[in-house]
Amino acid sequence: MFSQLEPQPADALLAVMAAFAADPSAKKLDLGVGVYRDESGLTPVMRAVREAETELLTAQNTKTYVGPAGNRPFADFIETLTLGDHPVRRAGRVVTLQTPGGCGALRLAADLINRAARGARVAMSDPTWANHVPLLTGAGLVVDTYPYYDVATGGVAFESMLETLKRLPAGAVVLLHGACHNPTGADLSLDQWRVLAELLGTRGLMPLIDIAYQGLGEGLDQDAAGLRLLAERLPELLIAVSCSKNFGLYRERVGAIIAIGEGPAQASILMSHLQALARRMYSMSPDHGAAIVATIGASARLSAEWRAELDTMRERVNRIRRAVTQALNHELQSQRFDFIAAQRGMFSVLGLDSQTVLRLRSEHHVYLANDSRMNLAGLPESAVGRFASALANVIRAG
Ligand SMILES: Cc1ncc(COP(=O)(O)O)c(C=O)c1O
Repeated sequence: MFSQLEPQPADALLAVMAAFAADPSAKKLDLGVGVYRDESGLTPVMRAVREAETELLTAQNTKTYVGPAGNRPFADFIETLTLGDHPVRRAGRVVTLQTPGGCGALRLAADLINRAARGARVAMSDPTWANHVPLLTGAGLVVDTYPYYDVATGGVAFESMLETLKRLPAGAVVLLHGACHNPTGADLSLDQWRVLAELLGTRGLMPLIDIAYQGLGEGLDQDAAGLRLLAERLPELLIAVSCSKNFGLYRERVGAIIAIGEGPAQASILMSHLQALARRMYSMSPDHGAAIVATIGASARLSAEWRAELDTMRERVNRIRRAVTQALNHELQSQRFDFIAAQRGMFSVLGLDSQTVLRLRSEHHVYLANDSRMNLAGLPESAVGRFASALANVIRAG
């Protein structure tokens, strides 16, 4: 049976990670892989997570299934973090299902859309996170793109984005990044979310919002302000939530899909479909990570501790952004990289050609993703100067 299978092309980012691992240099910098790192280069287990985990290990007396909708206190906490005390919740229009990571939520969202409208079209930003295409097309959806990033300003190419969205057929889905756009770091302003809400409403387009970095841009509530605004103004909305980055729970696979329907009856139909879809794909959610998040949510002390740790992470990323910009301004005597300080989240695209990216690797042991996406959180503050001089060096040489 398997003799006809051809080997799959290697994942480009995994190849960069392998090259990094094989580089013996003590100075090497991994700015490719998309995980948060502290100053010592570690992706730490957060203190609140460790404490919740310890509590759980003592209290837990069974490993039986949690049930098809997953951990309910977890779902409630995630709804509160994402939507706050939103009128759509009070109206009974919201349902939330625990999923294996944000990817699990995106895949379930895609399956749900495909069930409602087979082969529906989903428009995603150009560029977007590499995994969006396989996750959504794997469920049978058809992908379109809309312009998003303005290389000249490092901001959102909002007018071109609107022009393209205006031409989509009613019923199309628009995939949006809630905050901390991956890979560009360019986020919509609240005014732009407002204009977008209007356009989506009048054109009958359905937003699917991917929020994987809540709390790492401006703050927990600020990062969710755009999606909360859409939830106020549109009849239907899907939100894919990831707890990988903001709880540091990557390998535990913790996420949720939030579905907002026109009313309580539709919301409960959505929940029944989500459960049925999960059942036929992986049956039951994993428990441990969601139980950790629920334990944090249930304790005022652990919640406060987690929020403080998240603040520290966000402040580190934003501090690195400012420091890198300043160091590059100094090295190059130009404002070319000012956009890095203005953007948010872990990533920026530096706009380098592939030769320059390769020279950074081979001559300076600095590893960016092939599209010159840089993970700012991967850079220790102590290495900012070295990074800036390496980058200036290859730019001048090119
Ligand atoms: C934009 C975006 N969405 C979703 C995810 C999902 O992550 P996970 O499945 O690990 O929760 C990621 C992870 O890198 C991401 O960058």
